[in-house]
Amino acid sequence: MESLQYEGTQTRLCICVALLFTLLFAGCWAQDEADLVTSVPGLIGIPNFKHYSGYLQAGPGKYFHYWFVESQNNPSTDPLVLWLSGGPGCSSMEGLLAENGPFHLNDNGTVYLNPYSWNKLANMLYLESPAGVGFSYSISGNYQTSDPQVAEDNYKALQQFFSKFPSFASNNFYVFAESYGGVYAPSLSQLIISRSTNINFKGMGVGNGMTSYALNDQSLIYFGYYHGLFGDDLWNQLSQYCCSSISCKFYNSSSTNCQNAVTLYQIQDTGLNIYDLYGQCYGGVGSSARYAADVSNLFRQYKFTFKAPVSAVPSSCPSVCVLAGQDFPRCINGTAMYYWLNDPTVRAALHIPRSIQTWELCSSTVGSLYQRVYMDMSPFYQDLLQRNVTLLLYSGDVDMACNFIGSKWFVEALNQQVVSQYRPWFYNNQIAGYVEQYEHITFLTVKVKTVSLNEKVTLGTSGLLGGHGVFVLKTTGLTVSLTCYL
Ligand SMILES: *[C@@H]1O[C@H](CO)[C@@H](O)[C@H](O)[C@H]1NC(C)=O
Ligand SMILES: *[C@@H]1O[C@H](CO)[C@@H](O)[C@H](O)[C@H]1NC(C)=O
Ligand SMILES: *[C@@H]1O[C@H](CO)[C@@H](O)[C@H](O)[C@H]1NC(C)=O
Ligand SMILES: *[C@@H]1O[C@H](CO)[C@@H](O)[C@H](O)[C@H]1NC(C)=O
Repeated sequence: MESLQYEGTQTRLCICVALLFTLLFAGCWAQDEADLVTSVPGLIGIPNFKHYSGYLQAGPGKYFHYWFVESQNNPSTDPLVLWLSGGPGCSSMEGLLAENGPFHLNDNGTVYLNPYSWNKLANMLYLESPAGVGFSYSISGNYQTSDPQVAEDNYKALQQFFSKFPSFASNNFYVFAESYGGVYAPSLSQLIISRSTNINFKGMGVGNGMTSYALNDQSLIYFGYYHGLFGDDLWNQLSQYCCSSISCKFYNSSSTNCQNAVTLYQIQDTGLNIYDLYGQCYGGVGSSARYAADVSNLFRQYKFTFKAPVSAVPSSCPSVCVLAGQDFPRCINGTAMYYWLNDPTVRAALHIPRSIQTWELCSSTVGSLYQRVYMDMSPFYQDLLQRNVTLLLYSGDVDMACNFIGSKWFVEALNQQVVSQYRPWFYNNQIAGYVEQYEHITFLTVKVKTVSLNEKVTLGTSGLLGGHGVFVLKTTGLTVSLTCYL
């Protein structure tokens, strides 16, 4: 017999008797009201929307943590948007707490309401996927998974969401994801359109997404050269060794000279914030233990092995780095989230049982065991395009993890009919980015530094992933997309 109690006093206690604590989840949390969050530690005032945190069963013994925030506008008629962050292995809590979500963290650990939260317009469902990420877990403790398995698990978790919140089944439903979520979103969307009759699926959005390894790698060389990240000597080598008279192949050349030139390029950017070219690199120049993991989405054809120099804890880094640094992507300061989400009162408020692991921004266990299966997402896009759903690929234009050129090429290669040629779009009477519309798909860039709504954003401290996460601007992007595109 085992009983499960939550830490803290404000949380409604849920005590059940069972042998497996998983059974407890099913038994106690069958109704959404048990998941209602009644306090947000560190927030002054009460939000004007309801929100829920708990678990969705994503398969036998697998439980995904979700945090569902209702719209501040009209929950019953506003769209429902599923949000998936990337990695693989990174937590969607980053989306909620540092990008497009309603609750943002101050340096001193207090919480404020993000005035540009997407839940101004939409009901937002943040899902920590796959098992082992954030507060999500698997009873078996086996955290090996793969692209198709994640799609299945996400689909099951979504079905569970709709059984917990049946009233949202009629809302227009969208899947949004960023980064490696560029693999999760189309694969999940395809399962939804091919199987589900109970989801009112309308479209999908992917921000700085992993869509094609080949195009992402190929374009990164051009991005680097034309942003001044390497000089003409290297450029000449790349041109000489990787290009023929008709084309260049940077991503899968069989020439050792070309591969070496590409390696050289890789090594060179160790001091840059790969997610935000013009942003700060927390911890400063120098390599880190996670460098290999951070560039693991790039140039996989070449099976580069990256040495991890020992300088994992830069001198500018406080002791928290030792504690929390391992599972943060390089240059990213996730200290505030780490402390806040692991605070016992916060965990209690979010209905996270004590037995659940310490929250990390990215799980290196999940990341290192992950099996990548889909190298090019275009077959999924072609399927979705045939169903007439609306698709949006948007890119912060200073991200190098999934750069905008690769995404642009990806959309072009889908060969859809152009509805409106590549042109600027505007915000506050400034060019805020560029957009090209095809029949069912839109490509949109966000000129990251144009819209500096306050100093925090300018400095990139609020938008955790800077150009990659396109945080405030992404909000603008969604506003645009909800009103114009979706
Ligand atoms: C990292 O974040 C913490 C908490 O938000 C903050 O106190 C600290 O100054 C940040 N460090 C750097 C180098 O930006
Ligand atoms: C925490 O920081 C915020 C933003 O700087 C500030 O408004 C607030 O007063 C601070 N709260 C405490 C308790 O220090
Ligand atoms: C590189 O990719 C192209 C198509 O994407 C393929 O035809 C070619 O065989 C690949 N080359 C190598 C060396 O893997
Ligand atoms: C998609 O739209 C086209 C033309 O608008 C129509 O002919 C086709 O039947 C639609 N397909 C589906 C699956 O709704």
